[in-house]
Amino acid sequence: MAKQMALAGFMLSGPVVHSHAVWRHPQTHSHFLDPDYYIEIAKTLEEGYFDLLFFADRLAVGDQAGQSRARSFELGAQDAARLDPLPILSLLAGHTKHIGLGLTRSTTYYQPPHVARAIASLDHISRGRSAWNIVTSMNDSEARLFGHAQHLAHDQRYARADEFVELVLKLWNSWQPDALVLDKVRGILADPSKIDAFKHSGTYFDCEGPLNIPRVPQGQPVLIQAGASGRGRQFGSRWAEVIFSINSRVERMLEFRQDIHQQMRAIGRDPADCKILTAVMPFIGGTEAEALKKRDEHNALANPELGVITLSTQSNFDFTQFPLDTRLLDIARHSATPDVIAQKLRLERDITLGEYGAIMAASIRVPQLAGTAESVAQQLIDWLELGACDGYVVSPAYLPGTFTEFTESVVPILQRRGYLRSAYEHPTLRGHLGLKSFN
Ligand SMILES: Cc1cc2nc3c(=O)[nH]c(=O)nc-3n(C[C@H](O)[C@H](O)[C@H](O)COP(=O)(O)O)c2cc1C
Repeated sequence: MAKQMALAGFMLSGPVVHSHAVWRHPQTHSHFLDPDYYIEIAKTLEEGYFDLLFFADRLAVGDQAGQSRARSFELGAQDAARLDPLPILSLLAGHTKHIGLGLTRSTTYYQPPHVARAIASLDHISRGRSAWNIVTSMNDSEARLFGHAQHLAHDQRYARADEFVELVLKLWNSWQPDALVLDKVRGILADPSKIDAFKHSGTYFDCEGPLNIPRVPQGQPVLIQAGASGRGRQFGSRWAEVIFSINSRVERMLEFRQDIHQQMRAIGRDPADCKILTAVMPFIGGTEAEALKKRDEHNALANPELGVITLSTQSNFDFTQFPLDTRLLDIARHSATPDVIAQKLRLERDITLGEYGAIMAASIRVPQLAGTAESVAQQLIDWLELGACDGYVVSPAYLPGTFTEFTESVVPILQRRGYLRSAYEHPTLRGHLGLKSFN
């Protein structure tokens, strides 16, 4: 039997996804404030037997781009407008039956009981389809929205995240599976001897349990993570059951997966307990030329200035202070540029900031796969067979078109060749992904 390919549909509840052109693409015929937009997307992905529909999230409009917060709003930067994904997923739980429903919650700006309650509730109302993407957040604008002058330092964020996850798991585990009795005749709701009123006292959090939510259908909602740094990978190896990554070259994908597997083994985890999904943005045409045309037309709508704003938000550094024709190597040499950013820029090709901005605006470096359905399916199969990943995060260029085209043309090929299910076989997301059970 062929390996099974895990598939996640990647979304943001705003006008822009990895592609900064989504909202203005002629084939995007609705928009992010319309609930029907999300319902159509979720149903399309479910028709394509995707494992998961995932919503990324950030909490604040970035202002790392100098004075250009106004430009962020004007042009539609990644963080300029966004709904909270939780109510969207709650809506989608009622309009779908099988597909997993995942969202991001930050360990830096929430408290563990907020996240434990929200995701546990989603798991109940979706009958076991929830997932939490654990992020530590990115920049000072998020800090200021929550009343802090500055974002916590990188490694401190991850130390807090470790304790945060420990505590969320304690809260989810505070009800044993049979603690909820619901005996109408005797008038007994729950068995208190099976509910753990634990006390947690740690470096970042003090908390007295239990949660007031009975144990969830999955026992434990699926934990996702997407850290890229050394510390981020260490964190992912410890906790994650799904890891998202963006790598443009297959050698980097292989290195990433091998590194995660090695770190998992070193702490006694089985690598099979974590699925590594790498992001791709497909453009599918009847011929290669038609697909390339679609890609080029899309990329022409992605404004390089927006890409530079996203770069600034992600690096917590103002790249807009440099004209677009500045070479990256000159930015690396500039006295205002922090060492860690300079080091990364030196690894880039010798291009200008504007050229880099164009790449960021088109896909934030998610590889764009332009081809016929056959050639796109073959590429996905090749990377899977090579051991570069366990599946894919499919990132849209227009909505719901990217997902519709993928579902109608690539999915049947994957099914025919045995890489994708032809019916959902399990009730839970954990089951779809072949992850271990917690009940
Ligand atoms: C596919 C994918 C999805 C991500 N989703 C989010 C998100 O929703 N919110 C967020 O703040 N960061 C998100 N990130 C960023 C990561 O959580 C992480 O901060 C980033 O990769 C930098 O890694 P590091 O913190 O280990 O340096 C995502 C990254 C990837 C690759």
